[in-house]
Formats: sequence, structure tokens, C-alpha cells
Amino acid sequence: METKILKDDSAILMGAELIQQGEVVAFPTETVYGLGANAFNPDAVNKIFIAKGRPNDNPLIVHLSDISQILNVADSVPPLAYELFNAFSPGPLTIVLPKNLAIPYTVTANLDTVGVRIPSHIVAQKFIKACGVPVAAPSANTSTRISPTDATAVFEDLNTKIPLIIDGGQCEVGIESTVITLAEKIPTILRPGIITQSMISNIIGQVKTHKGEIIGMAQAPGMKYKHYSPICEMFIIKNTDEIIEKFKWLLKNGKTNPVIFCRNSNEIYYKGLNCIALGDTDIEIAHNVFHTMRLAEKRYDAIISEDFNNEGIGGSVMNRLYKSAGIKRI
Ligand code: TXA
Ligand code: MG
Repeated sequence: METKILKDDSAILMGAELIQQGEVVAFPTETVYGLGANAFNPDAVNKIFIAKGRPNDNPLIVHLSDISQILNVADSVPPLAYELFNAFSPGPLTIVLPKNLAIPYTVTANLDTVGVRIPSHIVAQKFIKACGVPVAAPSANTSTRISPTDATAVFEDLNTKIPLIIDGGQCEVGIESTVITLAEKIPTILRPGIITQSMISNIIGQVKTHKGEIIGMAQAPGMKYKHYSPICEMFIIKNTDEIIEKFKWLLKNGKTNPVIFCRNSNEIYYKGLNCIALGDTDIEIAHNVFHTMRLAEKRYDAIISEDFNNEGIGGSVMNRLYKSAGIKRI
């Protein structure tokens, strides 16, 4: 099928019509692009899994345009959830709640819970409103690939597989939403994002972050899969001297064109070597990381990234980069 990339209100209207007809449509959010379908229609939702090649035991997030529709998708909403929605929504936060009967198990991968998010991107807002139904949407990349932060990245992965990409420019946040579950005794962050543990704790008190260990069934089923993989090899190294050593070692061992990802202030250490500075702050690095990875994987044959920071937003970026590098963390 032909995949159109269109922008403006006409694209939003066309997208909403496609959703009502049971099709899938890619759309921008403030975090990354999503691949949406009518969350009430299991056949439509199934098309998301097919287009992405996504394992069907990995649940989807349901997107609303505002909090007033929450009971259309969730069975009950604890007071803590309202406190979090009030503080951070619309915005890059997903809350896992008990699911309503109207949400099919195709969306939740047979779980009795559903992840709910109210995106703030103006195009996402208009699109979901125009659809008139909650929109189930994972990130709009092929399964295992890097999450897309512009329409070109979506096209790269899903051309011929979906009818429409609504182009809303480059995503501001650049990494996916924070996912938190309130189904545990202590609220638990299942995926870190730019809404950090300390920001959440300021609102609701005690909260912990799931460390990613898989005991029996993973709590965020997405945690057990390969993620964010560039087509070239990728390494994470802490120390600038060791990064330079690794760069030279790679050149002697089969690579012809590696590149270093660094913080702006460290660029001076890598003079004469291929190097891309991702930003001064953790927020800037989050904004640039996936976008730059997609550019770099095509121009270079290995990526060596600095270990940016394990706290707060830097920690959320590293959560993605460790997965991109697989076990190649030094
Ligand atoms: O920013 C985002 O969250 C983007 C945009 C499009 O909204 N979406 C996104 O979706 O990143 P996806 O499918 O790539 O990641 C959703 C994550 C997965 O790790 C999934 O396992 C987890 O959320 N998740 C969804 N529903 C869940 C549930 N009921 N219980 C536990 N984890 C859930
Ligand atoms: Mg994803």
C-alpha cells in the first residue's frame, strides 16, 4: 500500500477517518511518534502488531485527549492516579490502571490492566479528539528498532505497511513516556522518562523504580524484548580515555568509520575523531538521542557513546542506550 506523509488539519481529519474505518495511522506526540488504532476495535489493533512485527504479548498504551474519558478505558481510578494526571497530564506520563471491559485483551496483551496516557502535542490532541475514540498506540517503529522522532523515521520503518503518517515535525521530548503502575503496594516506575522518580515522589510520596530484572513474567512485558537497536554495533563507555582507546581498537579490528556520542562539554577530548555532541543538558541529550542514532547508524559502522549520567533524566536516556548497546557495555 502507498504510505502518505501529510500535515496540517486535513491530515488530521483524514487520519481520524482512517481510524474510524479500522485502519492504523502514525501520528506525532511530544515524546515519539505513535502508531494508532481504535482502542475498542481488536481487528484494527491487531493491524498495529502486524505492521510493527510486534510480539502480541507486549501491551499497548491507550491515548486519550483529556481526563474526562478515563472511565471509558479504566475500570477504576485511584486518587493517586488523579493526583498524577493533575500534575503531569497532558504530558509524557503513562499510568497503568485496572482495565475496563470495553478495552479488548488484544490491546493489553491479556493483562487486566491498561496503560493510559494523555499526550500534550497539539496534533496528537486534535487527532485523538477527531477520532472520537481512545487511540491505542505503541511507538511507530518496526519492533526492536529505534523509536521514531520525526515522520521520516516512521517512513523508513513502515513505508508500504500503513496508509498515513501525520507529520507534526520533530518530537520535543525525544524519548518515550514514563510508565508507572499503581497496581503494586508501592507505586512503581516500569519505564523511566523525563517525568522522573523525584518529580513523581514530590506529588505522591513513596515511589520506586523497577530495576528491569525479569522474575517470572515481566511487569512491563516490553522490558524483556530487544529494543532501540541501531543497524551498526554500539558500545557504552564511561571514561573519555577508554573511549578513545576503543575508537582506535575498532579501527584496527575491522571497523572503518566509528563515531563517538558525547556531551557538548566533552567534544574537545575527541579532536580528530568522528564525534557527535548530543547537547549540554540531559534534556537536550534526550531530545537528540534517538534522532541522532538513526542518522549515525547509516553514516558510521560503530557508535561509542559516553555514559551520560545515571540520575534523573540522564538515567532515563541511559536506560535506552544500554538496551541499544545490548550487552556491549564497558
Ligand atoms: O511515549 C510513549 O509512551 C509512546 C507514545 C506513542 O505515546 N508510546 C510508547 O509505546 O512508547 P510502546 O508500546 O513502545 O511502549 C509501551 C510500554 C511497553 O514497555 C509496555 O510493556 C508498557 O508500556 N505497558 C503498556 N501497557 C502496560 C500494562 N498494562 N502493564 C504494564 N506495562 C504496560
Ligand atoms: Mg516502543
